[in-house]
Amino acid sequence: MSDTAMSETVSFSRQGTIGLIKVNNPPVNALSQSVRAGLRDAVERGLSEPDVAALVLICEGNTFIAGADIREFATGLGEPALVPVIDAMETAAKPIVAAIHGTALGGGLEVALGCHYRVAVPTARVGLPEVALGLLPGAGGTQRLPRLVGAQVALDMIVGGGHVPAPKAKELGIIDDIVEGELLDAAVTYAEKLIAEGKGPRPIRDIRPEQVSLSVFDDYEQSIARKQRGFLAPFHIIKSIRAAFELPFEQGMAREQELFAELMASTESKAQQHIFFAEREVAKVPGLPKDTPLRSIKTGAVIGAGTMGGGIAMNFANAGIPVKLLDVSQESLDKGLGIIRRNYENTAKKGRISQDDVERRMALIEPVLSYDDIKDVDIVIEAVFENMEIKKEVFRTLDATCKPGAILATNTSTLNVDEIASATNRPEDVIGMHFFSPANVMRLLENVRGERTANDVIATVMKFSKSLGKVGALVGVCDGFVGNRMLHARTRESAFLVEEGARPEQVDKVFYDFGFPMGPFAMADMAGLDVGYKVRQERRKAGKKEKRDSVWIDRIVEMGRHGQKTHAGIYKYEDGRTPIPDPEIAGIIAQCAKEAGIEQREISDQEILERCLYPMINEGAKILEEGIAARPLDIDIIWINGYGFPAYKGGPMFWADQIGLKTIYDAYLKYAEKFGEHYWKPAPLLEKLAKEGKGFYG
Ligand code: CAA
Repeated sequence: MSDTAMSETVSFSRQGTIGLIKVNNPPVNALSQSVRAGLRDAVERGLSEPDVAALVLICEGNTFIAGADIREFATGLGEPALVPVIDAMETAAKPIVAAIHGTALGGGLEVALGCHYRVAVPTARVGLPEVALGLLPGAGGTQRLPRLVGAQVALDMIVGGGHVPAPKAKELGIIDDIVEGELLDAAVTYAEKLIAEGKGPRPIRDIRPEQVSLSVFDDYEQSIARKQRGFLAPFHIIKSIRAAFELPFEQGMAREQELFAELMASTESKAQQHIFFAEREVAKVPGLPKDTPLRSIKTGAVIGAGTMGGGIAMNFANAGIPVKLLDVSQESLDKGLGIIRRNYENTAKKGRISQDDVERRMALIEPVLSYDDIKDVDIVIEAVFENMEIKKEVFRTLDATCKPGAILATNTSTLNVDEIASATNRPEDVIGMHFFSPANVMRLLENVRGERTANDVIATVMKFSKSLGKVGALVGVCDGFVGNRMLHARTRESAFLVEEGARPEQVDKVFYDFGFPMGPFAMADMAGLDVGYKVRQERRKAGKKEKRDSVWIDRIVEMGRHGQKTHAGIYKYEDGRTPIPDPEIAGIIAQCAKEAGIEQREISDQEILERCLYPMINEGAKILEEGIAARPLDIDIIWINGYGFPAYKGGPMFWADQIGLKTIYDAYLKYAEKFGEHYWKPAPLLEKLAKEGKGFYG
C-alpha cells in the first residue's frame, strides 16, 4: 500500500497486517510539532484499521528520532505535547514495535520506550542525553527507563547522559532484539511473529519498579556533588528517578513534569542549550563558502617532541592518523616517546583503552630526525620553543622541504602568525593551530588565520580539528589571540586586587564559587610561576612597560618558589597538591604594597568578581570590534573548552548578556572614576550596546 501522509513528516502505510509509521524529518528526525502530530494520527489510524494487527515505527535517513526539536524550546512547543502522544502509544490496544537505527536519543528513546517492543540494528545507540542541555528527559524517560533497568543503571545513564550501544542496551533489557539485514523487513517479521505467538501490548508503566533502598539516591547525589557543582539538571534527574520508586506511575510522571518545567525555565539550561548550538555553529566560518574544497589529510608531522609536541602527536594517533615526530636529537625523541607511552599506559591502566590500543597508537607515531623524512606529509604542526627566530628558522626549512600544498601550522600561543608565515614563500599555506595543555586532553583548538592564509587551508583545518576530537574556533592574529588576551586582563586585575588587600585565597574562592575549577592563583601555581615571570621579564626588556606593574608574584618567583613543582609558590604545598595560604607570602604582599604606596583595605567578593570578569568582557568586545573573533559564540566556546568557564553560565559573552551590558558599562564608569581610565575605558562596542539596551547576542 502507498504511503499516506499523516503530517509533513510522518506517513502511514501497510505491509500485510502490519501498519508502518515512518518518520522523515531530516537531519536527525527531531520531534518537531509535525512529527508529534503525525505520530498521534498515525497511531490512531493504525488502531482504527481492523485488519492491522500490529504497528512498526521506523525512521528514514541516518537515524531514529534523535530527540525533541531543541530549536522549538525557544519558541514554545505547539500541540500536541509529547507526553500524551507517547501515552496514546503505550496504552494502544495493538502492539507497537520501534525499529531503531542510528541513535534513539532523548525524546526519541522516550518514544521507543512508549512502544511495546524495541528492535535495533547492531550499530544503533540509545541514550537520554538531556543532562547536557541542562534538562531531564521530560516525556517519561525518568519513569519508564528505571522500570526496565533498575535505579543504578538509570541513574548512570540519565545523569551521565552517555550513549549505550545496541548490544549493551539489549543486555540491559532496553532493546528486545538486535536484527541483521534490512531493518524494515526485520521489524515487520518481528511484529508478525509477535502476532503469531499471540503477544500483545506490553506497557512499561505496568512494570513494578524493583525494590530499592532510597539511600541509593542520597548516595548518588553525594557522589556527584563536587563534579556537578553548579549544574541543576543532574540533581533534578536524581529527584525525578527517585519519584519512579516512591510514587505510582501517574504521580511520578507529574513529578517529572514539574521538575522538567523548573529546568526549562532555568538560566543553566538556556546556557547549555546555547552551547549545544554554539558548538555546531563555531565550525561554520562566516564568509567561507560552504563548498570550499578541502585538502586531504592522511599523514602528518609534528616538529618538537616536548610536552606540547608529544601531546599533539597523540591526537593524531588517537584519530588513527600516522604522524612523524621530529626533533633534533635522538635523546629528545626517546624522552618524548617515553612520556607518550607512559601516558597511554596510564590510560590503559584506568581501563579506558586496551593494551592493543596502546601498541596500535604507539605504532602510528614514527620518530624522525631529519626534515627530509617529513617532506611528503599533508600537514605539519610546529611545536618548538616559543621564540620568533627559532620558529622562523623552522618555517624556512619547512618551506624548502615540504611538498607543495602541505599545510604548515604553528602551535604558537603568543607570536605573530603572519611574521612566521613571512619566513616562507607560501604564506597561504600557513596557519596557527593553538593547542591547549595538555594537548592530548584539552578539547579546544584556537585556529589562527593569518592575513594570507588560503580559504581551503582554513576550511581543512577547521574540519581536521573535529577529526582530532577537538572543538576548533577560528580567530585572527593579535597578542594572545582570543583566550590568552582575555585571560591577561583578568590576571592583571587579580594581581592588583591582592596588592590592594584581597587575599589570594579570597580571590581564588570567588572564582571557585563562580564555577571555575580553580582560581587564578591556584592555577598559576599549577602552571608554574616561572613561565609568566619569563614572559614579563621579556616584555620589560622589550620596553613594553605596564602603566601599573605589580611585582609581588615576581618577588615570590625570585625566592625560588615556582609553584606546585617546587612545593611552594603563592601557596605552600605540604602534600604537593593542596594549596595552603602562607603567612610569609602575606608579608611579602604587604611589603610590596607599601613600596608601591598602596594602602591595603578590605575588598568585597563582589568587587573581585567585577574587577576580574568585567575586563574580560570588555576585551571580548574589543576582540569582536577588531574582527579577531567573528561572533560572540566563538569566544564563549573558547572559554568553556579551554579555560574552565562554567558551562552552565554559557561562556563569558552569554553570561555578560545575562548580567546586562549596562551593568557592566556602569561598573566600568565607576572604576574609571576610582582608578583612572587607563585600564577602565569601556570598549566602544560595549558602550554602544549598553546604551542601546542590547546584548552581544542581540
Ligand atoms: N533538535 C534540533 N536540531 C538538532 C537536534 C535536535 N534534537 N539534534 C541535532 N540537531 C541539528 C544540529 O544542530 C545540526 O544542525 P546544523 O547542521 O544546522 O548545524 C544537525 O542537526 C546535525 O547535528 P550534528 O552536527 O550534531 O550531527 P552528528 O551526526 O554529529 O550527531 C546526533 C547527530 C548524535 C543526533 C547529535 O546531533 C545529537 O547528539 N543531538 C542531540 C540529541 C539530544 O540531545 N536529544 C535530546 C533532546 S532534548 C529532549 O529530547 C527533551 C525531552 O525529553 C522531550
